[in-house]
Amino acid sequence: MTPPLPSVLITRRMPSTSLTELRKVCLVDLHPGTDDLPPDVFRARLAGKQGLICMFNDRVDSAAIDAGDALRVIATVAVGFDNIDIEAAKSRGIVVTNTPDILTGATAEFTWALILSVTRRISEADRAVRSGSWSGWTFDFMCGRELRGKQLGIIGAGRIGRAVAAVAPAFGMHAVFAARSGEGIEGNVLSLDELLLTSDVVSLHVPLTSNTRHLINRRTLVRMKRSACLINTSRGPVIDEAALAWALEERLIAGAGLDVYEDEPRVHPTLLTREEVCLTPHIGSATRETRTEMATLAVRNVIEVLGGRPPVTPIC
Ligand code: DGY
Repeated sequence: MTPPLPSVLITRRMPSTSLTELRKVCLVDLHPGTDDLPPDVFRARLAGKQGLICMFNDRVDSAAIDAGDALRVIATVAVGFDNIDIEAAKSRGIVVTNTPDILTGATAEFTWALILSVTRRISEADRAVRSGSWSGWTFDFMCGRELRGKQLGIIGAGRIGRAVAAVAPAFGMHAVFAARSGEGIEGNVLSLDELLLTSDVVSLHVPLTSNTRHLINRRTLVRMKRSACLINTSRGPVIDEAALAWALEERLIAGAGLDVYEDEPRVHPTLLTREEVCLTPHIGSATRETRTEMATLAVRNVIEVLGGRPPVTPIC
C-alpha cells in the first residue's frame, strides 16, 4: 500500500503555477481568499496537516502550532517572520522557512520610490493635479529637496539595507549605517544617535524584534534634522506611529514615506491627513516576478522537508 500523501494548508491565494509541483506530492487545502482565516478556523484546518504555507500577516502563535498536531514544516512567503512563534516551533521540532534574497531587489527599488516620492513631493503633486488645485506653472510651486550631496542613513545592514545603500551613489548620496555588531559592515557605521542627527533621509531596514519595536519614538525623532525624512519598508511597529504623527505636526521632521503600519491595514488618522507623507499599502516586494518567486520558494521548502530533505532557506 502506498502511504497517504502529506497534506498542506495554504492560508491565502497564491499564483496557481507555484502550486503545480506541490499538488503532485501533497494534498493541498487552499484558502482561496485574500482575507485572514479566523483564528479558530485556522487552528481547526491545521489539525492533521504536515505542512503550512502562510503569509507575514498570519499569526502563527503557540496555540496555532499546538493545533497543528502533525506539522513538520511552516513556510512563510515572506522574509520577515515576526508573526511566527519560532521557539514554539523549535520545541516541537518543526522546520520553519522564509523567502530571503529574492525580494531584496524589489524592496530596495520600492524604498527608492518612496524616497523620491517624499523628497520630490510626487504623491502630493499627483493629488494637486487630480484635485484641480493646480492652476498652472509657477516658479516655486511644489519645490522639493534634492538628494545630491545628501546623507542617506540606513538603520539595519541586512540584505535590503545594503541593496538600498548600493544605489545611493547614483543619486550623489553618501550612505551611512547604524547596524548591530556582527552585521559585517565596514566603514560608514555610526551610532543610531549620530545617524539620526546627521542624515537627510533615514530608512529603516531592521526586522521586528523586542529590541526594534518603537525604535523610532519621540526620543529618537527629536534627534532627526528638521529637514529630514523618514522611510519605512520594514515593519510598522518599528515606528511608534503616534510619536511620528506628533513629530510631523510639530514639524520636527520634513516628511515620511511609509509602506508598513503598526496595525495594518489601519493607519494613524493624523498620518492620513499629512501632505508631506506618502502612504503605500505594504507593497514593497509586490512585483509579479518577486511574488511568484517567493511563492515558488516557499513551496520548494515544503516539498523538500516533507520529502525528508533539508529546506532551501531555513530559519530553524
Ligand atoms: C516580507 O517579506 O516580510 C514582506 O513584508 C511581505 O512581502
